[in-house]
Amino acid sequence: MAASTVLLFLVLLLASSSLSVNIDFTYNGFKSATNLSLDGSARITSDGVLQLTNGTYKVMGHAFFVSPIQMLLNPRSMTQTTISFSTTFVFDIITVGNGGGHGLAFAVAPTKTLEGSCCQYLGLLNRSSNGNSSNHIFAVEFDTVQGSDLFKDIDDNHVGVDINSLVSNVSETASYCTANSRMVNFELESGQPIQAWIDYDGVAKILNVTISPLSVGKPSRPLISYAIDLSPILKEYMYVGFSSSTGKLSSSHYILGWSFRTNGAARSLDLSHLPLPPQPAKASSTSKASGIKIGVISSLSTLLVAALVLFSVSWHLWQRAKLAETPEDWELDYPHRIPYKDLYKATKGFRETELLGSGGFGLVYKGTLPRTGEEVAVKKISSNSRQGVREFIAEVACMGRMRHKNLVPFQGWCKRNGDLLLVSESMPNGGLDTFLFESEKCGLLSWDQRFRILKGVALGLVYLHEEWEQVVVHRDIKSSNVLLDAAMNGRLGDISLARLYERGKNPHTMLVVGYIAPELVRTGRSTASSDVFAYGILLLEVACGRRPFEPTAPTEHSLLMEWVRGCKMRGRLLEVVDPRLGGSYVREEVELVLKLGLVCSQSIPEVRPTMRQVIQYLNGDDSLADDAALVFSEADSLVLASRNS
Ligand SMILES: *[C@@H]1O[C@H](CO)[C@@H](O)[C@H](O)[C@H]1NC(C)=O
Ligand SMILES: *[C@@H]1O[C@H](CO)[C@@H](O)[C@H](O)[C@H]1NC(C)=O
Ligand SMILES: *[C@@H]1O[C@H](CO)[C@@H](O)[C@H](O)[C@H]1NC(C)=O
Ligand SMILES: *[C@@H]1O[C@H](CO)[C@@H](O)[C@H](O)[C@H]1NC(C)=O
Ligand SMILES: *[C@@H]1O[C@H](CO)[C@@H](O)[C@H](O)[C@H]1NC(C)=O
Ligand SMILES: *[C@@H]1O[C@H](CO)[C@@H](O)[C@H](O)[C@H]1NC(C)=O
Repeated sequence: MAASTVLLFLVLLLASSSLSVNIDFTYNGFKSATNLSLDGSARITSDGVLQLTNGTYKVMGHAFFVSPIQMLLNPRSMTQTTISFSTTFVFDIITVGNGGGHGLAFAVAPTKTLEGSCCQYLGLLNRSSNGNSSNHIFAVEFDTVQGSDLFKDIDDNHVGVDINSLVSNVSETASYCTANSRMVNFELESGQPIQAWIDYDGVAKILNVTISPLSVGKPSRPLISYAIDLSPILKEYMYVGFSSSTGKLSSSHYILGWSFRTNGAARSLDLSHLPLPPQPAKASSTSKASGIKIGVISSLSTLLVAALVLFSVSWHLWQRAKLAETPEDWELDYPHRIPYKDLYKATKGFRETELLGSGGFGLVYKGTLPRTGEEVAVKKISSNSRQGVREFIAEVACMGRMRHKNLVPFQGWCKRNGDLLLVSESMPNGGLDTFLFESEKCGLLSWDQRFRILKGVALGLVYLHEEWEQVVVHRDIKSSNVLLDAAMNGRLGDISLARLYERGKNPHTMLVVGYIAPELVRTGRSTASSDVFAYGILLLEVACGRRPFEPTAPTEHSLLMEWVRGCKMRGRLLEVVDPRLGGSYVREEVELVLKLGLVCSQSIPEVRPTMRQVIQYLNGDDSLADDAALVFSEADSLVLASRNS
């Protein structure tokens, strides 16, 4: 009897030491918030917003859940593990003026007050304690300042995981992945509410951090996924909450809602009922106006007003001169001409922040046309040679009528001094090249998506080669010229732009254009068949997930076409398939794409198929002879090599 009581007692003791009380709380706004411990500049506004800092310089504020939370299981044994926890919160950083600071952090800390901490260290640490393992601090920082070298910050808009130190173990620029696997950057300091999710799996020892603007919803992939064992860092009981500070730069940091849970996913916040942060007073414009009124009274001020008027008149004139254009008569004859003023406004004066990218042909800006509100991409080409510009515009204006679901819709053009501006509809998912080579973080294009994109591009080319009023040769087919619309359809952009350069007959620029068929180098003349050649390289690129030329690869692999050809001859074609697909593809389709890629990129133009035949192969209406003798010459490799050098 006594023995069994002892046994029961032991069992209970063991159970209680490895079980923890689950914590689960949610604040949809903080109006009736109890159980929070605030200090420093932190307070709760009358609207129920948790304000961590108040826009003044060099302040800091802490807000922690009042009771400590058990974070370790079996803390004194060899099998100690961290519990799993999950939290989500909505924050808002409001800055008046240029660039605020410092930022805010979600923190798991040994105390609620973090004595001795200081502003530059987000209110978490100080100069002497930074980096000391006796701090027992784990934090996720949302940092809007690129601090001194001390902190090794990557930029002034990042999220970082901090362990006992403000030098982040990992950090990423604030961004999120869309459902279409596109990475979108955004500003932490935009003044718009942002939601963050921090999930720690104590068994797998994986920490995930995810953020997105409130309107977007939780992205399917985390921004940071970091393997870290928190058990040596945390103590058995820890406080969870927020810390924020300002310095020589200041912002107001607000938390609008917060939910936290151990051993389970944090409860969702009721986003529609979160309070709004106080809006900053728009002081500057009203005070200027009243200043002028008073000024008129004294004669001294009259002078000042006169100077102001003079200044504003000359400013106005200067602005007008800047936007003025003097179109030549012939320009007015061609349709789809867009006034320079509109494009200037659309791109915010061709501001650097509006840059989408730069290519061989010039800079591309994003913008919104002021008259129609349409989202567009504006390509600015600085052409030194005026030669051929008129013919080019004639052609471009004529092509403005082209409509096909696999072509990027052309909106218009504008010529001003040496600059040629080409405007097309903006494609929300950008270039295929970024998907193939750069956006691994956001996931990959599936084989289905790739196959569909390739078919789309082929249809676009059939339209250009055979279905439009005259034969149009694209001349610059490559993955960066295949743009993806909202539904991830492939659309060809930059139609015939290469022609502008061919007309200039500048052999140097020839080399940066597309994938060049060998005959093009000899004759300098693009044909539908040289488009087919480039399309063939594109097929290989998409199936292999590799650029046509990879200088760092082993020599026998560095030229994509040669490598695929070699593997085909050895009967090991599938070795070249993009390993990141992890084998999830339709074997017949992949083989077809690879073989077709080789058939299209043969060196003799006459033996290449037409784009219409290509479509038939891709649709399975015609089958590609498996043992087709392919015609290649040594020259192919040379051409590809020179393109990339
Ligand atoms: C505050 O804590 C007490 C006990 O710790 C709990 O009963 C109460 O529900 C908590 N209130 C809130 C708003 O979480
Ligand atoms: C901001 O908070 C600091 C620290 O609590 C305080 O001294 C200051 O007066 C506050 N400023 C405003 C504008 O509320
Ligand atoms: C730095 O912080 C530690 C504890 O976190 C504290 O003991 C120490 O006094 C602080 N140092 C200064 C200079 O404030
Ligand atoms: C780390 O902090 C502890 C306790 O505050 C202190 O004794 C120790 O000297 C510090 N270590 C370093 C390297 O600063
Ligand atoms: C990262 O975390 C570990 C603790 O796991 C720590 O020792 C290390 O110094 C941290 N910092 C950096 C920059 O890696
Ligand atoms: C973290 O993210 C990875 C990758 O998306 C996912 O597989 C894992 O389940 C996530 N873990 C947690 C705890 O959310």
